[in-house]
Amino acid sequence: VPRVLLMRDNSNNRYQLHSTTKPYLDMVRKHVEPYTFTLNGEEILVLPGVMSPKYDWAGHYMIENLPDVRDADVLEVGSGCGLVAMAAYRRGARRVLATDINPVAVENTRLNFERIGAQHACEAILSDMFEDVSGQFDVVIFNAPYHGCAAGDDLEKGVADENYRALTAFFRDIHQHIKSQGRVVVGFSSSGDHDLFDGLVKESSLRLVTSVEDTRWGYQCEVHTFDTS
Ligand SMILES: C[S@@+](CC[C@H](N)C(=O)[O-])C[C@H]1O[C@@H](n2cnc3c(N)ncnc32)[C@H](O)[C@@H]1O
Repeated sequence: VPRVLLMRDNSNNRYQLHSTTKPYLDMVRKHVEPYTFTLNGEEILVLPGVMSPKYDWAGHYMIENLPDVRDADVLEVGSGCGLVAMAAYRRGARRVLATDINPVAVENTRLNFERIGAQHACEAILSDMFEDVSGQFDVVIFNAPYHGCAAGDDLEKGVADENYRALTAFFRDIHQHIKSQGRVVVGFSSSGDHDLFDGLVKESSLRLVTSVEDTRWGYQCEVHTFDTS
């Protein structure tokens, strides 16, 4: 039976969920066994309890808008099942480090790397944002949770980042992990607190290069690409 924990007690929280989010979580929670989803000819394994590209197009859009990653050292923060990290490898990244705060997502990403024989170049680790990440990368990707309310369990950390703690840490610490000619790619949405997002960008050391947005499946997604100058 699907459990819905979302928003422990968020009645006092000023951040509310977009109307499509709870139905999305319900669909993800119906899966109690691993399953696959095919995107751009790539079969992707998804474990129960992990954000699913079968029901969410944010990762598809990130893949559509990735910068050139050929020969690049790529970091994906918050990899979920690993679809974006896999796409980076397929497009010629030299090395991919994928992280997530959800241990099942880390395992899921690791399994997907193994399924495509990429484990020599791709690694998945458990990390709260950059906490266990060392080194600098040519491309850093973060498809961020859109909402600022509290998550009730690990799956919900994919959609809810309480008071935008993770997003704030990302823009605060990104300069330590990006090379000087690097590119930073962040997914966000008008479903989230855009004033806060814009403020974090402004305070960061990043310069906006391009922004794209689209609305599909009833909600809007954005991909913002930055450089370091
Ligand atoms: C919107 S989902 C993106 C999943 C996948 N990359 C995609 O594009 O479909 C956000 C991911 O970030 C992870 N996440 C949330 N907070 C995090 C944190 N503090 N540190 C690392 N990962 C985090 C979630 O577990 C989730 O897998």
